[in-house]
Amino acid sequence: MARVRHDDGEPAKAEPAEPAEPAEPKAARSRPLLDGEAGTEEADAEAPGIRPQRFSEYIGQTALKRKLEVFVTAARQRGEPLDHTLLHGPPGLGKTTMAQILAHELGVQIHITSGPAIEHKGVLAGHLTALGEGDVLFIDEIHRLSPTVEESMYSAMEDGRIDLPVGEGSRARTMPFSLAPFTLIGATTRTALLSAPLRERFQILEGIDFYSDAELAKIVQRTAGLLGMPASADGAKEIGRRSRGTPRIANRLTRRVRDFAQVRERDRIEAEDAEYALEQLGIDHQGLDSIDRRLLSAILEQFEGGPVGIEALAATLSEPRDTLEDVYEPFLLQRGFLVRTPRGRQVTRKAKKHLGWSDGRGKGDDGQGELDL
Ligand code: ADE
Repeated sequence: MARVRHDDGEPAKAEPAEPAEPAEPKAARSRPLLDGEAGTEEADAEAPGIRPQRFSEYIGQTALKRKLEVFVTAARQRGEPLDHTLLHGPPGLGKTTMAQILAHELGVQIHITSGPAIEHKGVLAGHLTALGEGDVLFIDEIHRLSPTVEESMYSAMEDGRIDLPVGEGSRARTMPFSLAPFTLIGATTRTALLSAPLRERFQILEGIDFYSDAELAKIVQRTAGLLGMPASADGAKEIGRRSRGTPRIANRLTRRVRDFAQVRERDRIEAEDAEYALEQLGIDHQGLDSIDRRLLSAILEQFEGGPVGIEALAATLSEPRDTLEDVYEPFLLQRGFLVRTPRGRQVTRKAKKHLGWSDGRGKGDDGQGELDL
Protein backbone atom coordinates (compact mmCIF):
# COMPACT_ATOMS: atom_id res chain seq x y z
CA MET A 1 0.00 0.00 0.00
CA ALA A 2 1.33 3.44 -0.86
CA ARG A 3 -0.37 5.96 1.37
CA VAL A 4 0.16 9.50 2.42
CA ARG A 5 0.07 10.72 5.98
CA HIS A 6 0.19 14.31 7.04
CA ASP A 7 1.58 15.89 10.13
CA ASP A 8 -1.71 17.61 10.91
CA GLY A 9 -3.52 14.51 12.08
CA GLU A 10 -5.37 14.03 8.81
CA PRO A 11 -6.22 10.40 8.26
CA ALA A 12 -4.02 8.52 5.84
CA LYS A 13 -5.44 8.23 2.37
CA ALA A 14 -5.28 4.90 0.67
CA GLU A 15 -3.86 4.71 -2.81
CA PRO A 16 -3.53 1.63 -4.95
CA ALA A 17 0.00 0.28 -4.53
CA GLU A 18 0.61 -0.50 -8.15
CA PRO A 19 -2.11 0.76 -10.42
CA ALA A 20 -1.87 -0.43 -14.00
CA GLU A 21 -2.67 3.12 -15.05
CA PRO A 22 -1.37 6.33 -13.49
CA ALA A 23 -3.03 6.88 -10.13
CA GLU A 24 -6.33 8.66 -10.43
CA PRO A 25 -6.45 12.34 -9.55
CA LYS A 26 -8.01 11.83 -6.15
CA ALA A 27 -4.92 9.95 -5.00
CA ALA A 28 -2.84 13.11 -4.85
CA ARG A 29 -2.91 14.64 -1.42
CA SER A 30 -3.31 18.12 -0.18
CA ARG A 31 -1.67 19.30 2.97
CA PRO A 32 -1.19 22.46 4.92
CA LEU A 33 1.44 24.67 3.38
CA LEU A 34 4.83 24.33 4.86
CA ASP A 35 7.02 27.27 5.78
CA GLY A 36 9.18 28.28 2.90
CA GLU A 37 6.83 27.17 0.16
CA ALA A 38 7.19 30.50 -1.46
CA GLY A 39 3.81 31.91 -2.29
CA THR A 40 0.69 30.00 -1.48
CA GLU A 41 -0.53 30.18 -5.05
CA GLU A 42 2.51 28.28 -6.17
CA ALA A 43 1.87 25.45 -3.79
CA ASP A 44 -1.80 25.48 -4.74
CA ALA A 45 -0.86 25.04 -8.36
CA GLU A 46 0.08 21.47 -7.54
CA ALA A 47 -3.42 20.57 -6.57
CA PRO A 48 -4.90 17.09 -6.63
CA GLY A 49 -4.60 15.43 -9.98
CA ILE A 50 -1.72 17.51 -11.26
CA ARG A 51 1.21 16.01 -9.41
CA PRO A 52 2.70 13.03 -11.21
CA GLN A 53 2.49 9.83 -9.18
CA ARG A 54 4.94 7.64 -11.08
CA PHE A 55 8.36 7.98 -12.69
CA SER A 56 6.64 7.33 -16.02
CA GLU A 57 4.49 10.46 -15.59
CA TYR A 58 7.34 12.68 -14.40
CA ILE A 59 8.76 14.92 -17.10
CA GLY A 60 12.43 16.00 -17.02
CA GLN A 61 15.32 15.21 -14.62
CA THR A 62 16.04 12.21 -16.81
CA ALA A 63 19.43 11.31 -15.34
CA LEU A 64 18.13 11.65 -11.78
CA LYS A 65 15.06 9.55 -12.53
CA ARG A 66 17.19 6.83 -14.08
CA LYS A 67 19.39 6.63 -10.99
CA LEU A 68 16.51 6.68 -8.53
CA GLU A 69 14.69 3.97 -10.48
CA VAL A 70 17.75 1.73 -10.07
CA PHE A 71 17.99 2.46 -6.34
CA VAL A 72 14.29 1.71 -5.87
CA THR A 73 14.47 -1.51 -7.88
CA ALA A 74 17.56 -2.66 -5.98
CA ALA A 75 15.99 -1.91 -2.60
CA ARG A 76 12.81 -3.74 -3.57
CA GLN A 77 14.78 -6.75 -4.80
CA ARG A 78 16.60 -6.93 -1.47
CA GLY A 79 13.41 -6.39 0.47
CA GLU A 80 15.02 -3.43 2.24
CA PRO A 81 13.99 0.17 2.66
CA LEU A 82 15.53 2.69 0.28
CA ASP A 83 18.66 4.28 1.75
CA HIS A 84 18.22 7.69 3.37
CA THR A 85 17.98 10.23 0.57
CA LEU A 86 18.67 13.96 0.45
CA LEU A 87 17.17 15.98 -2.41
CA HIS A 88 18.43 19.49 -2.91
CA GLY A 89 17.52 22.28 -5.29
CA PRO A 90 15.61 25.55 -5.55
CA PRO A 91 11.94 25.64 -4.50
CA GLY A 92 9.30 24.37 -6.89
CA LEU A 93 11.45 21.93 -8.84
CA GLY A 94 9.70 18.83 -7.56
CA LYS A 95 11.49 17.57 -4.45
CA THR A 96 8.21 16.74 -2.71
CA THR A 97 6.82 15.26 -5.90
CA MET A 98 9.90 13.08 -6.28
CA ALA A 99 9.62 11.90 -2.66
CA GLN A 100 5.99 10.93 -3.27
CA ILE A 101 6.90 9.09 -6.43
CA LEU A 102 9.67 7.23 -4.58
CA ALA A 103 7.21 6.10 -1.91
CA HIS A 104 4.69 5.13 -4.53
CA GLU A 105 7.24 3.14 -6.53
CA LEU A 106 8.49 1.49 -3.34
CA GLY A 107 4.90 0.61 -2.44
CA VAL A 108 5.11 2.22 1.00
CA GLN A 109 3.40 4.97 2.94
CA ILE A 110 4.86 8.49 2.99
CA HIS A 111 4.60 10.70 6.07
CA ILE A 112 5.09 14.34 5.19
CA THR A 113 6.36 17.04 7.51
CA SER A 114 8.87 19.87 7.57
CA GLY A 115 11.85 21.01 9.63
CA PRO A 116 10.02 23.94 11.27
CA ALA A 117 6.97 21.76 12.09
CA ILE A 118 9.09 19.38 14.20
CA GLU A 119 9.24 21.70 17.16
CA HIS A 120 10.81 19.31 19.66
CA LYS A 121 12.05 15.76 20.08
CA GLY A 122 8.60 14.54 21.08
CA VAL A 123 7.16 15.56 17.71
CA LEU A 124 9.97 13.74 15.93
CA ALA A 125 9.42 10.67 18.11
CA GLY A 126 5.72 10.78 17.19
CA HIS A 127 6.54 10.70 13.49
CA LEU A 128 9.20 8.02 13.80
CA THR A 129 7.17 5.66 15.93
CA ALA A 130 4.20 5.95 13.56
CA LEU A 131 6.26 4.65 10.63
CA GLY A 132 5.51 1.20 9.32
CA GLU A 133 8.18 -1.12 7.94
CA GLY A 134 9.91 0.48 4.94
CA ASP A 135 7.86 3.70 5.12
CA VAL A 136 9.20 7.05 3.99
CA LEU A 137 9.44 10.01 6.35
CA PHE A 138 9.70 13.13 4.19
CA ILE A 139 11.07 16.22 5.91
CA ASP A 140 10.89 19.33 3.78
CA GLU A 141 13.28 22.15 4.67
CA ILE A 142 15.29 19.70 6.69
CA HIS A 143 17.96 22.35 7.23
CA ARG A 144 15.51 24.06 9.60
CA LEU A 145 15.47 21.27 12.20
CA SER A 146 16.53 22.51 15.61
CA PRO A 147 19.92 21.20 16.85
CA THR A 148 18.32 18.96 19.51
CA VAL A 149 15.85 17.44 17.07
CA GLU A 150 18.65 16.99 14.56
CA GLU A 151 20.72 15.14 17.11
CA SER A 152 17.87 12.71 17.83
CA MET A 153 17.66 12.11 14.11
CA TYR A 154 21.21 10.72 14.02
CA SER A 155 20.49 7.58 16.08
CA ALA A 156 17.22 7.10 14.20
CA MET A 157 19.02 7.20 10.86
CA GLU A 158 22.05 5.18 11.89
CA ASP A 159 20.81 2.65 14.42
CA GLY A 160 17.04 2.65 13.90
CA ARG A 161 16.59 3.80 17.48
CA ILE A 162 15.24 6.83 19.29
CA ASP A 163 15.71 7.61 22.97
CA LEU A 164 12.41 8.46 24.60
CA PRO A 165 12.13 10.17 27.99
CA VAL A 166 10.37 8.11 30.68
CA GLY A 167 9.58 8.88 34.31
CA GLU A 168 9.59 12.23 36.04
CA GLY A 169 11.72 14.24 38.42
CA SER A 170 14.64 12.36 39.93
CA ARG A 171 13.49 9.15 38.21
CA ALA A 172 13.49 10.70 34.74
CA ARG A 173 15.65 8.83 32.27
CA THR A 174 15.62 7.84 28.63
CA MET A 175 14.74 4.48 27.14
CA PRO A 176 15.87 3.39 23.71
CA PHE A 177 12.99 2.59 21.39
CA SER A 178 13.55 0.45 18.30
CA LEU A 179 12.08 1.82 15.10
CA ALA A 180 10.82 -0.07 12.07
CA PRO A 181 13.34 0.13 9.22
CA PHE A 182 12.47 3.31 7.32
CA THR A 183 13.73 5.79 4.74
CA LEU A 184 14.28 9.42 5.56
CA ILE A 185 13.91 11.68 2.55
CA GLY A 186 15.11 15.16 3.35
CA ALA A 187 14.63 18.16 1.09
CA THR A 188 16.60 21.35 1.24
CA THR A 189 17.12 24.32 -1.01
CA ARG A 190 20.88 24.22 -0.50
CA THR A 191 23.06 21.43 0.90
CA ALA A 192 25.36 24.06 2.37
CA LEU A 193 22.60 24.89 4.84
CA LEU A 194 22.80 21.41 6.33
CA SER A 195 25.18 20.53 9.15
CA ALA A 196 27.95 18.14 8.11
CA PRO A 197 26.90 15.36 10.56
CA LEU A 198 23.37 15.31 9.17
CA ARG A 199 24.50 15.53 5.54
CA GLU A 200 26.92 12.64 6.08
CA ARG A 201 24.17 10.35 7.31
CA PHE A 202 22.40 10.38 3.94
CA GLN A 203 23.55 7.66 1.58
CA ILE A 204 21.90 9.11 -1.51
CA LEU A 205 22.45 12.82 -2.20
CA GLU A 206 20.93 14.19 -5.38
CA GLY A 207 20.25 17.63 -6.80
CA ILE A 208 17.23 18.70 -8.83
CA ASP A 209 18.05 21.24 -11.52
CA PHE A 210 16.08 23.87 -13.36
CA TYR A 211 14.06 22.43 -16.25
CA SER A 212 14.61 23.23 -19.91
CA ASP A 213 11.98 25.29 -21.73
CA ALA A 214 11.06 22.20 -23.79
CA GLU A 215 10.46 20.13 -20.63
CA LEU A 216 8.35 22.90 -19.14
CA ALA A 217 6.31 23.08 -22.35
CA LYS A 218 5.58 19.34 -21.95
CA ILE A 219 4.59 19.87 -18.32
CA VAL A 220 2.28 22.71 -19.38
CA GLN A 221 0.66 20.50 -22.01
CA ARG A 222 0.14 17.73 -19.48
CA THR A 223 -1.32 20.10 -16.88
CA ALA A 224 -3.49 22.00 -19.35
CA GLY A 225 -4.92 18.70 -20.59
CA LEU A 226 -5.68 17.59 -17.03
CA LEU A 227 -7.36 20.94 -16.36
CA GLY A 228 -9.62 20.45 -19.37
CA MET A 229 -8.20 23.34 -21.41
CA PRO A 230 -5.62 21.85 -23.78
CA ALA A 231 -2.69 23.96 -24.90
CA SER A 232 -1.34 24.02 -28.45
CA ALA A 233 2.38 23.32 -28.85
CA ASP A 234 3.04 27.07 -29.28
CA GLY A 235 0.78 28.01 -26.38
CA ALA A 236 2.56 25.56 -24.09
CA LYS A 237 5.95 26.76 -25.31
CA GLU A 238 5.07 30.36 -24.49
CA ILE A 239 4.03 29.48 -20.93
CA GLY A 240 6.95 27.09 -20.47
CA ARG A 241 9.57 29.58 -21.48
CA ARG A 242 8.29 32.16 -19.02
CA SER A 243 8.20 29.75 -16.08
CA ARG A 244 11.68 30.35 -14.66
CA GLY A 245 12.73 26.76 -15.23
CA THR A 246 10.28 25.74 -12.50
CA PRO A 247 7.36 23.28 -12.86
CA ARG A 248 5.47 24.76 -9.91
CA ILE A 249 5.46 28.11 -11.67
CA ALA A 250 4.58 26.50 -15.02
CA ASN A 251 1.55 24.88 -13.37
CA ARG A 252 0.50 28.08 -11.64
CA LEU A 253 0.78 30.10 -14.85
CA THR A 254 -1.10 27.41 -16.76
CA ARG A 255 -4.01 27.78 -14.34
CA ARG A 256 -4.06 31.55 -14.71
CA VAL A 257 -3.75 31.44 -18.51
CA ARG A 258 -6.61 28.95 -18.52
CA ASP A 259 -8.76 31.50 -16.65
CA PHE A 260 -8.09 34.14 -19.27
CA ALA A 261 -8.62 31.70 -22.14
CA GLN A 262 -11.88 30.45 -20.63
CA VAL A 263 -13.29 33.95 -20.11
CA ARG A 264 -12.29 34.80 -23.69
CA GLU A 265 -14.31 31.72 -24.71
CA ARG A 266 -11.39 29.81 -26.17
CA ASP A 267 -11.41 26.04 -26.22
CA ARG A 268 -7.66 25.76 -26.18
CA ILE A 269 -4.67 27.83 -25.17
CA GLU A 270 -2.91 29.28 -28.20
CA ALA A 271 0.33 31.28 -28.09
CA GLU A 272 -1.65 34.49 -28.35
CA ASP A 273 -3.79 33.57 -25.33
CA ALA A 274 -0.66 32.80 -23.34
CA GLU A 275 1.00 36.07 -24.36
CA TYR A 276 -2.06 38.10 -23.51
CA ALA A 277 -2.58 36.47 -20.11
CA LEU A 278 1.08 36.58 -19.11
CA GLU A 279 1.28 40.22 -19.99
CA GLN A 280 -1.74 40.89 -17.76
CA LEU A 281 0.01 38.96 -15.01
CA GLY A 282 3.16 41.08 -15.29
CA ILE A 283 5.35 38.18 -16.38
CA ASP A 284 7.75 39.38 -19.04
CA HIS A 285 9.22 37.49 -22.00
CA GLN A 286 12.12 36.21 -19.93
CA GLY A 287 9.76 35.01 -17.20
CA LEU A 288 10.75 37.75 -14.77
CA ASP A 289 8.05 39.05 -12.46
CA SER A 290 7.78 42.39 -10.71
CA ILE A 291 9.98 41.34 -7.78
CA ASP A 292 12.76 40.11 -10.08
CA ARG A 293 12.68 43.39 -11.92
CA ARG A 294 12.56 45.34 -8.68
CA LEU A 295 15.58 43.42 -7.43
CA LEU A 296 17.64 44.10 -10.55
CA SER A 297 16.48 47.73 -10.72
CA ALA A 298 17.38 48.28 -7.07
CA ILE A 299 20.94 47.09 -7.68
CA LEU A 300 21.19 49.33 -10.72
CA GLU A 301 19.57 52.40 -9.26
CA GLN A 302 20.63 52.30 -5.62
CA PHE A 303 23.91 50.46 -5.77
CA GLU A 304 25.22 51.51 -9.17
CA GLY A 305 24.95 47.99 -10.51
CA GLY A 306 26.69 46.40 -7.50
CA PRO A 307 28.43 44.66 -5.98
CA VAL A 308 26.00 44.82 -3.09
CA GLY A 309 25.79 42.58 -0.05
CA ILE A 310 22.69 40.42 0.37
CA GLU A 311 21.71 42.07 3.67
CA ALA A 312 21.73 45.55 2.16
CA LEU A 313 19.71 44.31 -0.78
CA ALA A 314 17.17 42.54 1.44
CA ALA A 315 16.74 45.70 3.52
CA THR A 316 16.27 47.84 0.43
CA LEU A 317 13.63 45.53 -1.00
CA SER A 318 11.99 44.76 2.36
CA GLU A 319 12.19 41.08 1.48
CA PRO A 320 13.64 38.41 3.79
CA ARG A 321 17.19 37.49 2.90
CA ASP A 322 16.24 33.80 2.66
CA THR A 323 13.53 34.53 0.11
CA LEU A 324 15.96 36.45 -2.05
CA GLU A 325 18.58 33.73 -1.78
CA ASP A 326 16.31 30.72 -2.20
CA VAL A 327 13.53 31.94 -4.45
CA TYR A 328 14.73 34.82 -6.61
CA GLU A 329 18.48 34.60 -6.99
CA PRO A 330 18.98 31.05 -8.28
CA PHE A 331 17.05 31.71 -11.48
CA LEU A 332 18.56 35.17 -12.02
CA LEU A 333 22.02 33.66 -11.56
CA GLN A 334 21.29 30.70 -13.80
CA ARG A 335 19.97 32.91 -16.60
CA GLY A 336 22.85 35.34 -16.33
CA PHE A 337 20.99 38.42 -15.05
CA LEU A 338 22.99 38.44 -11.86
CA VAL A 339 26.41 37.27 -10.73
CA ARG A 340 27.79 36.63 -7.29
CA THR A 341 31.21 38.06 -6.65
CA PRO A 342 33.22 37.88 -3.43
CA ARG A 343 32.07 41.44 -2.73
CA GLY A 344 28.37 40.83 -3.36
CA ARG A 345 25.73 40.67 -6.09
CA GLN A 346 26.25 42.43 -9.35
CA VAL A 347 23.94 42.88 -12.33
CA THR A 348 25.11 41.85 -15.78
CA ARG A 349 24.92 43.58 -19.13
CA LYS A 350 22.06 41.21 -20.00
CA ALA A 351 20.05 42.50 -17.02
CA LYS A 352 20.71 46.11 -17.98
CA LYS A 353 19.64 45.45 -21.53
CA HIS A 354 16.52 43.66 -20.38
CA LEU A 355 15.54 46.59 -18.18
CA GLY A 356 16.15 49.09 -20.95
CA TRP A 357 19.50 50.35 -19.73
CA SER A 358 21.20 49.15 -22.88
CA ASP A 359 22.50 52.53 -24.03
CA GLY A 360 25.26 52.29 -21.44
CA ARG A 361 24.33 55.70 -20.09
CA GLY A 362 21.01 54.81 -18.52
CA LYS A 363 20.16 56.60 -15.31
CA GLY A 364 23.58 57.85 -14.43
CA ASP A 365 25.44 54.80 -15.65
CA ASP A 366 29.16 55.32 -15.81
CA GLY A 367 29.98 51.92 -17.24
CA GLN A 368 31.07 50.65 -13.82
CA GLY A 369 29.26 48.12 -11.70
CA GLU A 370 28.19 45.76 -14.41
CA LEU A 371 29.67 42.56 -15.68
CA ASP A 372 29.70 41.77 -19.35
CA LEU A 373 28.60 38.15 -19.35
N1 ADE B 1 4.15 18.68 -12.36
C1 ADE B 1 5.08 19.20 -11.58
N2 ADE B 1 6.28 18.70 -11.90
C2 ADE B 1 6.10 17.84 -12.90
C3 ADE B 1 6.97 17.02 -13.66
N3 ADE B 1 8.27 17.01 -13.47
N4 ADE B 1 6.42 16.25 -14.61
C4 ADE B 1 5.10 16.27 -14.82
N5 ADE B 1 4.25 17.04 -14.15
C5 ADE B 1 4.74 17.83 -13.19
